Amino acid sequence: MSRALIAIVMAAGKGTRMKSDRPKVLHEIAGEPLLGHVLHTISGLGLAAVHVIVGHGADQVRAFLPTGVSAVDQFEQLGTGHAVDQVTPHLGPFEGDVLILSGDVPLLSADTLARLRARHEAEGATVSLLSARLQDPTGYGRVVRDEAGQVTGIIEHKDATEAQRAIDEVNLGTYIASWPHLREALATLTPNNAQGEYYLTDAIAHLARAGERIACLCTEDPLEGEGVNTRAQLARLQAVYQARTAERWMAEGVTVVNPATTIIGPLVELGRDSVVEPGAILLGRTRVGERCLIGAYSQLRDVRCGDDVEILHSYLSDAAIGDGTHVGPYAHLRAGAELGRKVRLGNFVEVKKSRLGDGAKAAHLAYLGDAQVGRNVNIGCGVITVNYDGTKKSQTIIEDDAFVGSNTNLIAPVTVGEAGFVAAGSTITHNVPAGALALGRARQVNKEGWVKLRRETTAAHP
Ligand code: UD1
Ligand code: CA
Repeated sequence: MSRALIAIVMAAGKGTRMKSDRPKVLHEIAGEPLLGHVLHTISGLGLAAVHVIVGHGADQVRAFLPTGVSAVDQFEQLGTGHAVDQVTPHLGPFEGDVLILSGDVPLLSADTLARLRARHEAEGATVSLLSARLQDPTGYGRVVRDEAGQVTGIIEHKDATEAQRAIDEVNLGTYIASWPHLREALATLTPNNAQGEYYLTDAIAHLARAGERIACLCTEDPLEGEGVNTRAQLARLQAVYQARTAERWMAEGVTVVNPATTIIGPLVELGRDSVVEPGAILLGRTRVGERCLIGAYSQLRDVRCGDDVEILHSYLSDAAIGDGTHVGPYAHLRAGAELGRKVRLGNFVEVKKSRLGDGAKAAHLAYLGDAQVGRNVNIGCGVITVNYDGTKKSQTIIEDDAFVGSNTNLIAPVTVGEAGFVAAGSTITHNVPAGALALGRARQVNKEGWVKLRRETTAAHP
C-alpha cells in the first residue's frame, strides 16, 4: 500500500519568452494545453488531491482546470520554494507525500513517475527527485553528490562554481517529498542567492544536511523533463510528442501512415486496425473504433466513432458516428451531429444538432440543422433544412423511409411522415403525411415556338 500522495503543479510563472498574452501553461501541444498534458499524466496515480499554483494569467488557468483540481494563488512569483509553500495552509496536518511538478513539462510520462514513486518508497527516502545527464546542462540546477554518491543538494546554475557547472547531471524539477519534512524545510528558506528567490532546491539541501535520505532517479530520456520556454521549443516538443504518440498507437495495432504530419491528442483513443492517414488531426476526447479509416487531412475534435467508419478529408467536431458509416470527402459535422449505422454522408454536406437514423443517405450538397432524420431516409442533392427564421431555430422531422427529392427546401418547423415522398425542387411549408407525395413547386408552363417568335420581334424593333 503506497502512502497517500497529493500533487502540487507549479504554474504561476510568466513565460516571458513566449511573448504571449496567454499564460505559458495554456499553450498547446496536440490541441491540449501543456498543463492538461501534466494533469492527464498524473491522473492515474490515485492522487488524494491536485493543487495547481496559479499566478500569471490566474483567471485563464483557473477557467481551464477540471473539477477536482484546485487552484492555489501565488500572488508574487518569489521562487519555486515560495510557490510550493502556498499550499501549506491548504494541506493542514497532511502526513503523506507530495508530488511536485511543473505545468510546462508536457512529455513527462506516467511510467517515469511510477518509477520515481517506487524508488522513493523502496529507499524510504524523504525526498526523491528526477534527474538526467545532459550534454549541455547550462541553465539547469546541478545534482551534487558526496563521495558515496548520495545526493547532498542541488546547486542552481547561476549560483554554481566552475567545478559545479562541470556536473552534467541536472535536476528536472520533478520531486516526491514527505510533506511534514518538506513543510518544515520550506519555512527555513531565504532568498540569499544569485536570483533573490526562495529556491525549492534549497529545501532539499536543508533536508540532506539534517541527515534525511534524498533519492534520485536518473532518466535515460531528458526530453521527459524538458520545459517549454519559447515557441520554438513548443514546436520541437510537439514533433517529439507526435512521434511518441504515433509509436504508442502503432504498438496497439493502429496504422499511422506518417507520424510527422499526424496529430493525436493525449485523450484520444483508437481501435485496432484503424488507419490514420497523413495530415489527420485527432483532438479532444475523440474515440475511434476498430477498422476505421481516418482519411488524409481530416480533423476530428470530440468525435465518437464506432467500428468500420470511413472519414475522408472532412472536418468534424462534437459528433457521434455509428458503425459502418461513411463520411466525406468535404463533409462538415458539428455541435451535436449524430449519425447512425451505415449512414452515407457525401461531399459538401453539413450536419448540425441533427440525428440521422441507420442507413440514411445524404450524398451531396445538403444542410441538415436541427433535424431528426429517420432510418433509410434519402436526402437528395441540395436539400436544405430552413431551420432559422432570423430569430429562432426550428425542428425538421423526417420519418423512416422518406424520400426527399433534390433541391428541396424544408421550411421548419415541418414534418415529413413515414415513407413520405417529396418531389425534387419543392419548398415544403406544410407537414407531409405518411406515404404521401408532396409537390411544392410552381407548375411548369411551356410556350411553343416562343424562341423563334422573340427573334423575329427583336429583328423588327432593333
Ligand atoms: C528549476 C529548478 C532547477 C531545475 C529546473 C528544471 C529551482 C530553484 N530550480 O529552475 O534546479 O533544473 O527547474 O526545469 O527550483 N514557478 C512558480 N512560481 C514561482 C517560480 C516558478 O509557479 O515563483 C513555476 C514556473 O512557472 C515553472 C516552474 O515553477 O513552471 C519552474 O520554475 P522556473 O523558474 O522555470 O525554474 P528554473 O529556474 O527553470
Ligand atoms: Ca524552467
